[in-house]
Formats: sequence, C-alpha cells, structure tokens
Amino acid sequence: MAQTVVVSGGGSGIGRAVAVTLAGSARHVTVVGRRAGPLETLAATHPDTIDLVAADVSTPDGAQHVLDHLDGSGHTCTGVVAAAGGLSPVSEPGDNLAAVAGGWQAAFRSNVLTAVLLVEALTPALRDASGRVVLLSSVAALRGSGSGPYGAMKAALHAWMFDLARDLGRHGGTANAVAPGFVPDTEFWDGHLDDELIRRKSLETLVGRPGTPGEVASLIAWLLGPDGGWVTGQVLSPNGGSTLGR
Ligand SMILES: NC(=O)c1ccc[n+]([C@@H]2O[C@H](COP(=O)([O-])OP(=O)(O)OC[C@H]3O[C@@H](n4cnc5c(N)ncnc54)[C@H](OP(=O)(O)O)[C@@H]3O)[C@@H](O)[C@H]2O)c1
Repeated sequence: MAQTVVVSGGGSGIGRAVAVTLAGSARHVTVVGRRAGPLETLAATHPDTIDLVAADVSTPDGAQHVLDHLDGSGHTCTGVVAAAGGLSPVSEPGDNLAAVAGGWQAAFRSNVLTAVLLVEALTPALRDASGRVVLLSSVAALRGSGSGPYGAMKAALHAWMFDLARDLGRHGGTANAVAPGFVPDTEFWDGHLDDELIRRKSLETLVGRPGTPGEVASLIAWLLGPDGGWVTGQVLSPNGGSTLGR
C-alpha cells in the first residue's frame, strides 16, 4: 500500500510549507483543512504527490472523514503533522463567566481537539507503520501568550505528546512537539500584523528577525525523515532564540 503523511492545516502557513517540503523530497502528502480552496490550489501544484481532504478535524466526524479518505485512496498513514490551530476570539476583562468559558472551549477545540482526534483516528495505522507524529505547539506554551487560553492549550499538547511518544515508541515510532516563535508569513497573523509588531517581535530574538514557514517546515521534515528516528518525546522550539530559547 502506498504511504502518505497527513498534514492538518496544510492549506496555509506552516502546514503548507511542510507539505511542499515533503512533496519536494518525493514523499506523498495528504493535506487537510476546512476550506477546500487553498487545499486544491496547493494540490494542483503537485498533482502526483499532494492529495487533499476538506474536513474539520476538531470534530469526530471530520477526523473519521480523513481516515475514510485514506482507506478509499489506498494510502497508509506513516506520519501526522498536526498544524491545524491558532488564535480564537477570547473574552475581554469584565466579560461574564459564560464568555470566559466560551473562549477557553473554542481554544481547546481549535488547538487540542484538532490534534487529538486526528492522531487518535490514525493511531492504529501509525503503530503498524512505526509512524512519526509532530504536534504544532508554540513558544507561548513555554512562556505564556498574554492572550488567555492559547498558550495553555498548546502546553496541554506537550503532556499528551509524552504519552504518545511512549505508545508509538513501543512500535518503533516517535512523537514530538514543535513550538515555533514568531512566524509572520502565515494566516495566523492575518489582521494583526503591523511594522511595529514585527520590529518588537524581531527584537525579542537573538538573531534579530522573524522565522519563516520554510524554516519550521525543514525541522519538521527532518523529524519525519531517515535521521529523525531517535528524537522522540521532545519539545523543540525554533524561535530565533527569543527570550533565550523560551
Ligand atoms: N505563525 C506563528 O507565528 C505561529 C507560532 C507558533 C505556533 N503556531 C502554530 O502553528 C500552527 C500552524 O499555524 P500557521 O501559523 O501556519 O497559521 P495558519 O496559516 O492560520 O494555518 C492554520 C491552518 O489550520 C487550518 N485549520 C484551522 N482549524 C482547523 C480545523 N478545525 N480543521 C482543519 N483545519 C483547520 C486552517 O485552514 P482552514 O481555516 O481552511 O481550516 C489553516 O490552514 C498552528 O497550530 C499555530 O497555532 C504559529
């Protein structure tokens, strides 16, 4: 059976860069996102190596749809990159508790359930294939985000990833979290970016500049590649040394 790496959030930003990097080294990729349009645009550039599934992987039905698609396409999953996620609206000071609960639940669905449901759906295949998992966390998980639940939700992925690494390790597989710093060339920052923010975030780093989706993708591709098999249970933070690596 042909092999594939499933990349959620593959239609834009870091997930898209991962898909392009893997496809560039002749690996087959199945990209997942809610909007079909960006996925179709990407798949059209690599018709032989990038397949797509439009699905909301924060829901059981969406994750099951990805599994059903792989069964139908005859691909077996040897890796998962869980990049779906991002900021969701948060409550403001003075909002009522229902608004606070709503903000945390939205962040949980967006950043935790998207990873958990997709990986759980694919875990039997990953065990059979000595598969590799990379969860997209954030430097916010290491030092807070200043914006409510986002950093806490990403930190939740770390503890779950440790258990995943133990499980997959028994089958020869790996699990890691990649926790990037500031990567502005992504939809994550749509509507939030201005020159002052870029200047301030760049100054937080030791190298004086933001990261690129391609730099993060390159690290992830290494974790999924032939030399990555002995790195597992780790939180790796490509962040330009911001706040000395945290
Ligand atoms: N950019 C940064 O500075 C930065 C820093 C640290 C961590 N991160 C993390 O890196 C990951 C990738 O983000 P990015 O920066 O590349 O931003 P992005 O361009 O917004 O990518 C996020 C992708 O996730 C998809 N997505 C969101 N919810 C989904 C769901 N429920 N089901 C399926 N797909 C879903 C989105 O597509 P649809 O809307 O079409 O579903 C989108 O393509 C995120 O987890 C983010 O939190 C980003």
